[in-house]
Amino acid sequence: MPKVKAKKEKNQPGAKAVQTLRGFKDILPAEQPYWSYIRKLAESFAKGYGFSVIEPPILEEAGLFARAIGKQTDIVEKEMFSFVDQGEGAVVLRPEATASIARAYITHGMVSLPQPVKLYYWGPMFRRERPQSGRQRQFHQFGFEILGDSSPVIDAQIIALVHNFYQQIGLEQFSLQVNSLGCPNCRQIYVKELTNYYRSKRRLLCEDCKQRLAKNPLRLLDCKKPSCQFLKAEAPQIIDWLDDDCKNHFMKVVEYLDELNISYKLNPQLVRGLDYYTRTVFEVWPKEVKEGAQSALAGGGRYDGLIELLGGRDTPAAGAAIGVERTISQLKQQEKQIPLETAPDVFLAQIGDQAKIKALLLFEQLRQEDIQAAENFAKDSLKIQLELANKLKVKYALILGQKEVMDGTILIRDMESGVQEVVDFKKTVLELKKKLARLNGGAV
Ligand code: HAM
Repeated sequence: MPKVKAKKEKNQPGAKAVQTLRGFKDILPAEQPYWSYIRKLAESFAKGYGFSVIEPPILEEAGLFARAIGKQTDIVEKEMFSFVDQGEGAVVLRPEATASIARAYITHGMVSLPQPVKLYYWGPMFRRERPQSGRQRQFHQFGFEILGDSSPVIDAQIIALVHNFYQQIGLEQFSLQVNSLGCPNCRQIYVKELTNYYRSKRRLLCEDCKQRLAKNPLRLLDCKKPSCQFLKAEAPQIIDWLDDDCKNHFMKVVEYLDELNISYKLNPQLVRGLDYYTRTVFEVWPKEVKEGAQSALAGGGRYDGLIELLGGRDTPAAGAAIGVERTISQLKQQEKQIPLETAPDVFLAQIGDQAKIKALLLFEQLRQEDIQAAENFAKDSLKIQLELANKLKVKYALILGQKEVMDGTILIRDMESGVQEVVDFKKTVLELKKKLARLNGGAV
């Protein structure tokens, strides 16, 4: 019988290490100060502006996004992570959350709540795009949606909120681009005009734009290729094709922005990559937009037809989403200092078995008293433990050795001066609190 060669086991030493998928990233501990800084601020904005938190699921029926975002968009055509689930049919990892929020508004009968309904969310989104700088397949957004009101002041409030967020995180260089896409009626007339213009220039278009001309002509205005940019400059502008209602709505929005002293740039070529928008659209760009780079930090607008399109009542709405990764990357590029995570208050060191047990119990007590203690219970050497305490820059170390266990005491060591004080073990928390309060200039 021929010998069968044993297959090399995957987990043999030397086997290739498992990697993250392309476009997916670990968010490592060193990055977390940025994440918690942004998240805390986002939550405080949500609270301050009166938004309630909603957490829609990450997996949704594929049809939701095809209907909401549009079958002819890049996101739906090429970028969805979709699969067929037994029993549930075609499902997708959400590429964005606005469609889910509109779905949730219908699912939970939010039309019967006092209007408008203001919802805030935070979470991962998934788009199967070609990964590059600033473009990942899993990225995070937080967003604000106001559902159930059509007045232009809502659009202005959303824009102001996003603008104020970027101001408050200390990003000095960003630009706010605004435009109106009109309602489906005026847009239809405009798209006809745009199509006529581009048809006459068809041979000058890039290959992608030739396709866009046939499928989704508005997207022609979004092409980043220099040859198409040149054609774009001469293209008809939607602003000239808005009907009176849409024009008045837009005038009101920019009037509010002026009153709020918010600087913005009117950009007649801003079209956005999702089909659900009506009237106001906007994006936040970093001041320096690199050629061809994926750069919008945030985007949003009004989407008056979406809820009805998904089977609900005719309900106007507007909102915005902020991209977390791109925002963090801007903070880094602009060398913005962010608040550091708080350092532990104290280091708890122990030597010997009995001391270890006592230290474990004390650690729990400290935690319950809201005193943040660092430790390394796995180490027995006092020298190593104090070195770690130094590295963590704690002001005090608590030291429990055999002698202290026998005497019912503990040492409180001032890490800066090296002075050690013997304290009754039962009074550890009390004494420590006094010291920490003195340190922070608070009452003892
Ligand atoms: P969006 O413009 O597709 O809008 O995405 C909003 C933000 O998400 C972008 O400005 C960007 O910062 C970030 N983003 C998008 N794709 C990626 C990617 N592949 N990698 C990294 N970051 C990315 C929406 O999603 C709409 N739902 C916004 C909205 C809310 N409109 C109304 N309400």
